[in-house]
Order: sequence, then C-alpha cells, then structure tokens
Amino acid sequence: MPEAATDGIRNGAALDEAELLSAEALREVQLSRLRASLRHAYTHVPFYRDSFDRAGVRPEDCRSLGDLARFPFTVKDDLRAQYPFGMFAVPREQVRRIHASSGTTGRPTVVGYTERDLSHWADVVARSLRAAGARPGHTVHIAYGYGLFTGGLGAHYGAERLGCTVVPASGGMTSRQVQIIQDFRPEVIMVTPSYMLTLLDEFERQGVDPRTTSLKVGVFGAEPWTQAMRREIEERFAIDAVDIYGLSEVMGPGVAQECVETKDGLHLWEDHFFPEVVDPLTGEVLPDGEHGELVLTSLTKEAMPVIRYRTRDLTRLLPGTARPAFRRMEKITGRSDDMIILRGVNLFPAQIEEIVLRTPGVAPHFQLRLTREGRMDHLTVRAEARPDAGPEARAAAAGLIARGVKDGIGVSVAVEIVDPETLERSVGKIKRIVDARPRDTA
Ligand code: DLL
Repeated sequence: MPEAATDGIRNGAALDEAELLSAEALREVQLSRLRASLRHAYTHVPFYRDSFDRAGVRPEDCRSLGDLARFPFTVKDDLRAQYPFGMFAVPREQVRRIHASSGTTGRPTVVGYTERDLSHWADVVARSLRAAGARPGHTVHIAYGYGLFTGGLGAHYGAERLGCTVVPASGGMTSRQVQIIQDFRPEVIMVTPSYMLTLLDEFERQGVDPRTTSLKVGVFGAEPWTQAMRREIEERFAIDAVDIYGLSEVMGPGVAQECVETKDGLHLWEDHFFPEVVDPLTGEVLPDGEHGELVLTSLTKEAMPVIRYRTRDLTRLLPGTARPAFRRMEKITGRSDDMIILRGVNLFPAQIEEIVLRTPGVAPHFQLRLTREGRMDHLTVRAEARPDAGPEARAAAAGLIARGVKDGIGVSVAVEIVDPETLERSVGKIKRIVDARPRDTA
C-alpha cells in the first residue's frame, strides 16, 4: 500500500492542496465545478445549447456526478464543424492563446484558452512534472514540438511554473539536441517516446554512451507506448521513464500523469477533468475497472469547455495509489481509430511493439504495412535489424516475430527485417501504420 500523503510531502516534495483532498471532498469539488461547466457551456455555446435541448436535458438536471451520463457526447467532428471559433464560450478578446490539431484529415480543430485556463494548465503540468520526479531548480529539456501543437508550450509553462530551468529545444535538429543535452546537463527530458529512440541513435552515432548523460527522468507521451518500450528506454538511458497524457481538445499535456514512485498507470487530475469510460459501440458508461473508451469533461475551462468529449483512447479506470483521491487510467493500449482489423482479428500497433522489443537481433524501430491481394488484407511487420545482426540472426528474428504475432494475437503476418537505419525516424508523433491498400476499398 502506498504511504498516506497526510503530511503533504511525497518523495521529498510538497503536494498541491488539491492533491491532499480526501476522495469525498474531491467528489464535492467535482460536482459543483461540473454543474458550473454545464451551465457555462449551455449559456455561452450555441452548439451545446442545441445538443442539450435535442437530448432533452438542462444543466440543472445534473444533481450528482452520475447524472452526467444523461448528457450528449461531443466528438471531434462537432469541433471541426464549428471551425474556427464556434466552440468558444467567452468573447474573443478574452482568449489569450489558440492551439490547433494538425488536421491531417479535414479541417483542423481549434482550441482556445483564457488567462485563467493557461494558469490552470501550467498548474497541472507542474503537478505532473513533480509527480514524475522533477523538482524546482532542475533543468528540463523540452523536445515536444512548439507551435500550434500543445506539447511544447504546454510542457514549457508547466516546467516554469514548477520552478525549473527550461530548455525549449522543440523537435528536430537531432544532432544539436544531443549536443545541448551534453552541454546544458538537464535532469529531465520531455519528448515523445519515438523521438527519444531517434535521440538514442544519435547519441550512439556521436560515440556518447546514453547511460552517462545528466538525465534522470523522461516524461513521455503524445503517442501510445508500451511497458516494453519503458524497459528499453530506462535501460538504454539509465533513467526513469514515466507517462504523461493529454489531448488538445481537452487542454494539452497534463490531463493525467504517472507517478515515478509507483509507475502503475496515470493519475487523472480529476479536480480539472472528469473521466468516464464508455462502451465504444453503445456509449453506455462502464463501471471502473472495465475497458472502454475514455470520455472527458472539463471542470474549470472558461474559453472552451468540453462536455463528454469522446477521446477514442482505449483504457480503463483504476483506484488511486500514489495520489489516493485521484483515479488512475491504465496505460493506453491504442486508439479505436488505430485498430487494424485483419481477417476479423483486432490488432493494435502496441501489441506488435511488445513483440518486436522482446526479439533479439532487431532494433526498436518498426512499421506496419497494410496491403490487399484480391479481397484479402495482409499485414507486413517491417522491423529494423540491429547493426550486429547477420543473415542468420535476421532470419531467426523474422521467425520469432511471426510466431509471436500468431501465438499472441492469433493472426498470420509477413515479417520483413530491413537494414539498419532504413526506416523513417520520428521527430514527434510516430506514424506506425502505412496503409497501401487501394483507396476505394480500404
Ligand atoms: O498529444 C498532447 C500531449 C503532448 C500529450 C505532449 C502528452 C505529451 P494531441 O496532439 O491533441 O495532444 O493528441 C492527443 O494523442 O487522444 C492520444 O491518442 C494520444 N496521446 C497523448 N498522450 C498519450 C499517452 C497531445 N501518454 C492524442 N499515451 C490522444 C498514449 C497518448 N497516447
């Protein structure tokens, strides 16, 4: 059992007032904030007024946290349809910052923040960093992209709020990143796990042993990553690797964070975000402990409140441990839109990651290529050989991966072991799936 945080000190650092609330007190805070958010959304955003009216619910109908289930969901397409500022609940002059999703498919989604929203965001990222093991006075190297993406600036203001020295490296220019890590000696790095692997290669290319850097903690998120990847990164860099979660529609990084002392899933900062897990097909709310799609409602956001936003992220809710009042979400296994259905079998890139990372002779770089022959879909796992793996080791690795997928997931795939340094490297969020099926039938 984790020690009780009654003295307000955890791992040598003082906790926020909110982190010290009892579960009961937290529920009270949530209910009053939830009711205020529903009122705010209904009063100031025509989209919510219409959608509540259509569902026949009024903000006053929410008398308990469970009543939230009576309110309609919000999905990404709803946000797209309101492009650019239709979801804003405050006059434009009160919006201090705008971020937007990349919009690879269709219009981007735009999100806005008031001054108070930005301050809350910095607070939860500071709290996340502290839970990760960062402390005032530490230097934090931020290699999440700066710009419309929420990763860089979200991490930045949180690290400053905690009292850290920030190195705003952003993504890319990998050899320079390695140089400044060597010279500025940060204790903490914030970056996508896939870009951390790109940095790993670069350290080795420059002849620097990655285990000898000043880094102690890595705060990784913005894409799914597995326990196998945690072991790989922790071992190769001799650091603690912890998970940070968030999404721009709800705020950005800092919605949930794994505590370094337990590394057992991510505590959701429930004083600002109310989580539900629903059956992805029926939308029915599932009890804690059951797997489904995470749905989030903002409790304090002014500029752009979100009510029951369907994240598409698959997880389950678990009781709090290191922060007892806050529930945890299990490490995300994937997004419902990243699920490959191969001859009737559901498969997520994370499952392949587990298998590739435990296979000797291959590097932790892989890609999934979908093709179609006749009416049949085929999946080829393309994994990169380690530099020292000869033809026999490569053939053995291909066999192990194919067998691992067949035994573990129940479907046959082709495996191609490619030469070292041939798969495209990540500079931010990695794209694992290459869909080469004919467009009209895919
Ligand atoms: O990725 C915000 C972020 C930046 C989180 C930096 C953490 C660190 P979006 O670009 O809107 O925002 O993408 C959000 O990324 O719905 C998940 O599918 C995925 N995602 C984010 N964090 C994690 C994580 C940022 N820790 C989408 N594990 C989310 C798995 C994650 N997936």
